Amino acid sequence: MEETLKNISTCYSILFSVFLSVLLYLSLKKCFLKEGQSRGKLFFRTLLTNPIPVYYILVFSTAVMAGVVIMFFKVVKGEDPNMIVALSEDKPIIYLPSILLSTILFVFMMILFARSIGKKMKVPNLSLVTYVYLIFSVVFILSEGGTFKETDGSLVFFYSVGIAKTTVLFIATLLIYLLVIRALSELTDRKREINWKLFVISPSVFIPVYTVVDYVSYMYGGEKVYIASQFFSTVILFLFIWAFYIIIKNINATNEAIDARETIKTLSVEVMEALAHTIDAKDKYTNGHSIRVAKYSRMIAEKMGLDAGTCENIYYMGLLHDIGKIGVSNEIINKPSRLTEAEYDIIKTHPGIGYNILFEIKSNPALAIGAHWHHERYDGKGYPDGIAGEDIPLEARIIAVADSYDAMTSNRSYRNYLPQEKVREEIEKNIGTQFDPEAAKCMLAIMEEDREYRLHE
Ligand SMILES: [Fe+2]
Repeated sequence: MEETLKNISTCYSILFSVFLSVLLYLSLKKCFLKEGQSRGKLFFRTLLTNPIPVYYILVFSTAVMAGVVIMFFKVVKGEDPNMIVALSEDKPIIYLPSILLSTILFVFMMILFARSIGKKMKVPNLSLVTYVYLIFSVVFILSEGGTFKETDGSLVFFYSVGIAKTTVLFIATLLIYLLVIRALSELTDRKREINWKLFVISPSVFIPVYTVVDYVSYMYGGEKVYIASQFFSTVILFLFIWAFYIIIKNINATNEAIDARETIKTLSVEVMEALAHTIDAKDKYTNGHSIRVAKYSRMIAEKMGLDAGTCENIYYMGLLHDIGKIGVSNEIINKPSRLTEAEYDIIKTHPGIGYNILFEIKSNPALAIGAHWHHERYDGKGYPDGIAGEDIPLEARIIAVADSYDAMTSNRSYRNYLPQEKVREEIEKNIGTQFDPEAAKCMLAIMEEDREYRLHE
């Protein structure tokens, strides 16, 4: 009976080790193997870095080191320095540091191996490869733990518990693969940074702690302590699986939300740019005017040191600043001869129309600011409200400078764009009258940097 159980238990353990190794390979393949990368190479690398032989080699070498230390003390005391006797003695206290050392080295090597494989496979998040190695190492260490003294109970009991435990670990490994690894494979392609502490700390701390607890329960335990330590370690493993499954699921959900938000943002910007083109298409002389004004406005805002969000919003305001022209007839906008006073009065309605259109965008009512006040002048002689100085919103003062700059640097039916020197003179002349001094000075600084005069239509 005892012999049969021992044989079943041994075969079962070997089978489990093979199963674990295969699932480690499959997990790495599922999560990290990209198109064009060789499966054969990955298989070979997993064989070389497999936790099971690495662990045995480390445990064996540290045990030999411990044996050497014991032999040394025996020689000092004048006792028989036989290596076999030294190793087979019932776990002297020297084994605890040696076991601890071997497991810490084991964790360290797993992290090292995982990082090297991750680099070879060009994985964006190395901590995720490390995590896969560590979580399989945790299962393997649990399958290894639970040494049992013959004096603690019957071997039939020991082997039966061992077989039951391996069965549970088979299920746990399968669950890791089906739940955790499957969720992880959705995450691994992302370039987004994931904090390594989240995935690497808990399994790497667990392995040495478990080894010590296992050793202590071996030294002082009986059947009950043995059962308790096996039971609690298995519960902790299932908690691990559950916690990581939830964490990875949550990261995936957050990633999807971020992607959805980015898609909506891109769509909004593209819709605004399409609208800008629509506005410009009404006027055959101002092709691309709104996009350029938006661009120049953002450059001025950046030069003024405004924060990134404000600069971005000024770009959008610039795109839509002339949207009110939709309400002005094409005949007036495209009239080749001089406008009458009545026609000019109609042109002057476009800021108000634009304001009414954009104010309806409740998620960003500030968009209306640029449309409403971009024809105001710093000295108060502009339209529609004739406000002056700081009463004009900053965004509108910036757009006013950009709008005039583009008017001077674009081709018209009756002239080509003006030379840079002439534009500079015009802006300098109107600082404090037409233009906000700071915005105008920033525009001049931008022109100063634009030595080859690229900023024109
Ligand atoms: Fe305008």
